[in-house]
Amino acid sequence: MHQEKAAIIKNKKITDQCWRLQLCSKNIARQAQPGQFLHVKISSNSQKPFLRRPFAVHSIEKKDEFSILYKIRGEATKLMRELKKGDKIDTIGPLGAGFQPSVNVQKYVLVAGGIGLAPLFFLTKELIDNKKEVVLIYGARTKNELLCTKELSKVKIKPLLATDDGSQGIKGNANNLLNNYLAKNKKEKIEVFAAGPRMMLKETARICKKAGVNLEVSMDEIMACGVGVCLGCAVKTKNGYKLACKDGPVFKAEDIIWE
Ligand SMILES: Cc1cc2nc3c(=O)[nH]c(=O)nc-3n(C[C@H](O)[C@H](O)[C@H](O)COP(=O)(O)OP(=O)(O)OC[C@H]3O[C@@H](n4cnc5c(N)ncnc54)[C@H](O)[C@@H]3O)c2cc1C
Ligand code: FES
Repeated sequence: MHQEKAAIIKNKKITDQCWRLQLCSKNIARQAQPGQFLHVKISSNSQKPFLRRPFAVHSIEKKDEFSILYKIRGEATKLMRELKKGDKIDTIGPLGAGFQPSVNVQKYVLVAGGIGLAPLFFLTKELIDNKKEVVLIYGARTKNELLCTKELSKVKIKPLLATDDGSQGIKGNANNLLNNYLAKNKKEKIEVFAAGPRMMLKETARICKKAGVNLEVSMDEIMACGVGVCLGCAVKTKNGYKLACKDGPVFKAEDIIWE
């Protein structure tokens, strides 16, 4: 883990609510694993926002360049829209424990909901680079909110899509697709990885448990320190409380107590 001022290479709006921020950082680009995140201080000369914000590493472009995807939510992400080429932001990372795909699996099924695609794109690319068979299931509210469609076709992935309004893919959500997929592929040794809103992950966990397949989830907890000090990101597990920033954000779904 390193703290450094990372220079902005590009900050581009990609959908109505989402932007891609491309940064230069040797440490993060060379060391990050899929599922890990960086903790970012958006404004250096103002107290606001006071706390850092966590963002998943989305892709590694070159040896010293990487990207994050961010969705506009509140104070920090609104400020991030203003960042320009050459600006620098204070980053700490890579942080946390990422995804841990097993070696003896036939197919890796990745389930992304909305901005949950950010860490799963990185995992998709890593698995494909390692010649693994990947199925990406991806859900968003509408066609216009689907992210990275071009980038996915570049890595030769044709995701199974779901949108709430049926404007692309099936009318429904990523879990509907996962349920159907697992029902049709009972004989294959499958491992599932998911990222998205907590309610989605809870349902993904239920589906995978019923189908008897292993699932890892990236927990989207609100964080303060990001390094295991404040205890603000506690996740209730069968082995007591764990910290999303240090023990996670990726956990085995079977360990989580979903409430
Ligand atoms: C490990 C990890 C990785 C993440 N990766 C990404 C990513 O790749 N792209 C991305 O856009 N976001 C990601 N997030 C969420 C991101 O950290 C928040 O969107 C960001 O902190 C919002 O800051 P803000 O100041 O704009 O909004 P705030 O003003 O802090 O919050 C605005 C609203 O969003 C809600 N909110 C804030 N943080 C979260 C959260 N983590 N989960 C659910 N609701 C939240 C608040 O309760 C509030 O209602 C990640 C979170 C974690 C823990
Ligand atoms: S955010 Fe402080 S302990 Fe996790």
